[in-house]
Amino acid sequence: MADGYHLPVLVEEVRNALAPCLREVSGMRDGRRARVLVDATCGGGGHTLALVEAANPEVVVALDRDADAIAETGRKLTPVVGERDIELHLVHAPNSELTTVLADRGISSVSVLLADLGVSSHQLDCDARGFSFRRHAELDMRMDRTRGQTAAEVLAEIDEQQLTRILRDYGEEPDAKRIARAICVTRPQTTTALAECVSAAMSARQRRALGLRIHPATRTFQALRIHVNGELTQLENLLRVGPALLAVGGRMGVITFHSLEDRPVKRCFQRLCKVAQPPDGLPIVAADMPTPRFAIPREFRSVTPGEAERSTNPRSRSSRLRVLQRLAA
Ligand SMILES: C[S@@+](CC[C@H](N)C(=O)[O-])C[C@H]1O[C@@H](n2cnc3c(N)ncnc32)[C@H](O)[C@@H]1O
Repeated sequence: MADGYHLPVLVEEVRNALAPCLREVSGMRDGRRARVLVDATCGGGGHTLALVEAANPEVVVALDRDADAIAETGRKLTPVVGERDIELHLVHAPNSELTTVLADRGISSVSVLLADLGVSSHQLDCDARGFSFRRHAELDMRMDRTRGQTAAEVLAEIDEQQLTRILRDYGEEPDAKRIARAICVTRPQTTTALAECVSAAMSARQRRALGLRIHPATRTFQALRIHVNGELTQLENLLRVGPALLAVGGRMGVITFHSLEDRPVKRCFQRLCKVAQPPDGLPIVAADMPTPRFAIPREFRSVTPGEAERSTNPRSRSSRLRVLQRLAA
């Protein structure tokens, strides 16, 4: 699975959680039953490929807002789906457009929906993309380079108050105000200029708290990336439409990398599993008792990588898989 594009996390766990229902549960395609896999963030196609090989779905929709990811998933999946007679749809779009993307292809419900959030190693490692403070580049940071403002454009015009809010809300940066002030004075346009500006602005206390292992600009880069790509709004939308797309018995898996992503996923899944209880004392027969439409499979409540994966793939350390299953229409 390891290749130059991206090393996927929690592959074994994703396979265990999702492949059985991809084998057994049918969604609907053009009014007919079909086992449908949707990978809403296909990246380098590693998870898609693992699920295709494990469960042989009939239809695969691999979607990403990054054109490079679509090309890479196509390269990896095309020979495999050809051999197995699987219908593959590669779609360059944000997953906030998932409902339309599926409706345009006649798909009204799916067996499995996976989302592995955040950025790929390819995006971080590619000089021209401007995601990383470790590489000198123009500050772009857009996952989809065909639309939206680059990080450099945002920093050229943003006001200090708004930038402070972004650093606080999306980076949980304790020195947000100082850093925002410094950025609004120099208005850096490259990764290295931004990293230097943040390092110089950060208080000695915060720098000590971070220690040597974490670069002072880490939280600023995360915050800007989340803002530039509207990541939390995208996630909110995916959580609104995703569960409704599941066929009965189907599962949705979401992999998150930090608490700003994990909290809404956890809350959404928990809320969907609750049932409204009838008022106390109201006589009600057992058959009329409300039943939950969704459940969180006990063994996949909150899955984190084992020691072996944490040591071989440091990026996996903060990852967490949550799974939701549809029980009833
Ligand atoms: C961690 S990588 C996915 C890696 C993939 N699971 C694999 O096995 O290679 C995250 C991917 O999600 C994409 N992405 C993030 N937010 C997205 C969104 N709202 N809509 C579509 N793609 C998104 C990114 O462009 C990136 O390619």
